[in-house]
Amino acid sequence: VITSGKPRILYEERQTREDGNDSWLQTSKVPMRDSRGKIIGVLGTYQDITEQKKMEAHFQQAQKMEAIGTLSGGIAHDFNNILSAIIGYSELSLSKIESESPIHGHLNKVIKAGERARDLVQQILTFGRQHEGELSPVRIKLIVKEVAKFIRAALPTTIEINQHIHDDPTVMADPTQIHQIIMNLCTNAGHAMQENGGILEIGIESIDPDSEFMGSHFGLQPGSYIKLTISDTGDGIPPENINRIFEPYFTTKEQGKGTGLGLAIVHGIVKSYGGIITVDSWAGKGTTFDIYLPSNEDSNKTKEDTESKPIGGKERILLVDDEHDIIEIEKGILEQLGYVVTPTVKADKALEIFAERADQFDLVISDLTMPKITGDKLALELIKIRPDIPIILCTGFSEKMTEEKAASLGVKGFLMKPVTVNSLTHVVRNVLDEK
Ligand SMILES: Nc1ncnc2c1ncn2[C@@H]1O[C@H](COP(=O)(O)OP(=O)(O)OP(=O)(O)O)[C@@H](O)[C@H]1O
Ligand SMILES: [Mg+2]
Repeated sequence: VITSGKPRILYEERQTREDGNDSWLQTSKVPMRDSRGKIIGVLGTYQDITEQKKMEAHFQQAQKMEAIGTLSGGIAHDFNNILSAIIGYSELSLSKIESESPIHGHLNKVIKAGERARDLVQQILTFGRQHEGELSPVRIKLIVKEVAKFIRAALPTTIEINQHIHDDPTVMADPTQIHQIIMNLCTNAGHAMQENGGILEIGIESIDPDSEFMGSHFGLQPGSYIKLTISDTGDGIPPENINRIFEPYFTTKEQGKGTGLGLAIVHGIVKSYGGIITVDSWAGKGTTFDIYLPSNEDSNKTKEDTESKPIGGKERILLVDDEHDIIEIEKGILEQLGYVVTPTVKADKALEIFAERADQFDLVISDLTMPKITGDKLALELIKIRPDIPIILCTGFSEKMTEEKAASLGVKGFLMKPVTVNSLTHVVRNVLDEK
C-alpha cells in the first residue's frame, strides 16, 4: 500500500468523547492508495485542540463584550443627563406645589418613572462598566440559602434542588448584585428543566488557583477565589448559541417571555468584581455555570453606618457643569438647602473666578466630562490655588473614575448622575463636615 500526500485535508471537528463531554479535534487526512493508485482507505491524524478552542472563544467573547460596554456607556452618558433634567425639574416643581394639588401626585409619578428609568439604565450598564457602588463583605452562603428558598417555592416539584456548600467565604460585593447573579442563573436553570424536571445544583467552594488552573481560566489573577457553581440537567445550550448567551438581548424565549438581559447582567457584575464566568453545556444533558469571584481575606471590615442627615447649610459653592439644565437643577436644589451658589457652564471661567476669589468658596462641585478642561484637570488646578478646597466630582455611570482615582486627585466626594435631591444633600453635607 502506498500513501500519497495529496490531497491532504485539514479541518476542525467537534466530537463527543466517551465520557460524554465534547471535544474539538484538528484532523488531517490523506487517502491511501494501492499500487495502481486506487483509493482503498484513509489515513488520519488527530490533534485535540479543545483548550485552544476554548481560549479563542473566550477571547472573542471578551472583545465583543467590551465593544458592547463601550457603546452602551456612551448612550448612557447622554441618557443620564436627560434623566437628570426630568427628575430634577420635577423635584424642584414638587417643592413649589401644595401637597393637596393633583399636580403634586402627577409630579410624584413623573419622578417615580424617572427613577425607574435610571435604575434600568444602571442595570443595563452593569455589563459595561466598573462597579461604583458601596461594597461590603458578603457571605455568599446566606444569599444562596435565601434564593434557594425563593426558587423552591417558585419551581415545580419535578425539579430537585441540591446545595453543596463546602465553605462559607465572603466577597467584597454589593449583596443585591450577588443576589441578582444567583437569581438569574437559577431562573434560567429552572426554565431549562421546566418540561422534564431535573436537578438544580448550587455549590460554593473556596479555591486557590494554581498556575495550571490559571492558564486554563483566562482572566484570573493570583489570589484566592470563591467558586459558585449553578448547574442543571435541563435542555442544554446548542453549540451555535453558546457564544451568544452573554450578549444583551440574546434570548431563545418567546417574545415577551425573556429580555435576554439576565446573563448579560450576570457577566457584567462578575467582570466588575474581577471575576470570571465559565459555561459548559451539552444539548440534552444540561448546563453548568461556574463563577469565580475574588474572595475577601480581610472580612472584618464592617459597613459604615450611613445614617441620613438631610440638612443644608449656608456655605458658598462654586458649581461647574457644561449643561445648562443640570446647572439649573443643581443650583435650584442647593439654594433650597440654603447654600450660596455661583454657577458657571465653562470650566475655564470657573478657574478664573476661583483664581480671583478662592477664599470666598467653601466647596466646588464640578462635572467630570466637559469640553476643553475636564473635571479632574480642573480639580488639579483648583487644588494648586487652594490645597484645602473640598471638591466634588459628578460622573456618569459610564465614566472611568474610581473612588481611589478621585481620592488621588484630592477630590473629596463623588456624585453619580443623574444627581438627585437626596444624593446631592448627602454628599455636599458630608464633604463639608469632613473638613
Ligand atoms: N441553564 C440554561 N440552560 C439552557 N439554556 C440557557 C441556560 N441559561 C441560559 N440559556 C440560554 O441563554 C439565553 C439567554 O439567557 P438570559 O438569561 O440572558 O436571557 P433569558 O433567560 O432568555 O431572558 P431573561 O433572563 O430576561 O428572562 C436563554 O434564552 C437560553 O437560550
Ligand atoms: Mg434569564
